[in-house]
Amino acid sequence: MKLLVKINLVLLALLAAAIAAISTIGWDLLQRNAREEVLHNAKLLIDSASAVRKYTLERIYPLLLTQSKYEFRPEMVSAFSAIEMLKILRNAEPEYKQFLYREPALNPTNPANRAVEWEADLITQFRNGALAAPATGERNTPAGRMLYMAKPLKAAQGCLFCHDTPEKAPQTMVAMYGPGNGFGWKLDEIVAAQVVQVPVAVAQARAEHTFRVFMVLAVGVSVLVAVVLNAVLWFMFVRPVTRISALADRISLGEMDAPDFKVTSRDEIGTLATSFSRMRASLVQAFKMLEG
Ligand code: HEC
Repeated sequence: MKLLVKINLVLLALLAAAIAAISTIGWDLLQRNAREEVLHNAKLLIDSASAVRKYTLERIYPLLLTQSKYEFRPEMVSAFSAIEMLKILRNAEPEYKQFLYREPALNPTNPANRAVEWEADLITQFRNGALAAPATGERNTPAGRMLYMAKPLKAAQGCLFCHDTPEKAPQTMVAMYGPGNGFGWKLDEIVAAQVVQVPVAVAQARAEHTFRVFMVLAVGVSVLVAVVLNAVLWFMFVRPVTRISALADRISLGEMDAPDFKVTSRDEIGTLATSFSRMRASLVQAFKMLEG
């Protein structure tokens, strides 16, 4: 087998092993990174929703307090502002379109916010301290696998103005939502959660895109390394050695005057060529002595 073929076989095995290792570790790493990035965005959304909640309670709610005696405006409700803000965000940015935001409660004012089974489980676990906030996880849904992040919502003093008893709450609100739901919340009790859900496919798609770029790059660099290495081996080693060997052939067949092999390099090949010339000169000398 030719030397170049042997070296290329070793190189191929090496590069294949390296690419296999890089792709396995890389894929794992990229998937984890993409997941973390999506969850980071989810956290940003929950934190923005919390900020809007706070803003509504501290700035808007006092402004509409008198108004609530005559007409209840949902704009003074933190949950309403947060959910509306997230709706606007989802419509404004395609990137956020996939992010679903909910404020599920065990005993909700608006029945649309009633916690479904898995959300109720989360709230119960937050309540008994089994889950630290923020909680993250994955779950199967009819729409595919979803990644979620959840944070608990506590009833503070200000919340009890509306969520304590129907008698204490603004009557205009009770008229709108009814006296049956969303009351009886206790101070500092975890009553609800903020939940953001994103399809796992979003994280997966990000990871896949980066992975493809990454692999094309790895294969490209490998091919480049192989081509350059082959060229270097060819010009620096295979070609001069083949020439020296062809010259040796001619001399061994008696062509003593075959032109010398010229090398300018001072590397091992250069030394070999010089030694070879010297040997040929000695040989010619020896023959002459024999003939004489
Ligand atoms: C001005 C009255 C008012 C105050 C104050 C208020 N809420 Fe509410 N809250 C409501 C109303 C009304 C809704 C239903 C909004 C809707 O239509 O979705 C609601 C909804 C919610 C929801 C969604 C689940 C549900 O009950 O429908 C959560 C969670 C919530 N409130 C928590 C809080 C917390 C925590 C505070 C205190 C930081 C608070 N609320 C303060 C009136 C109030």
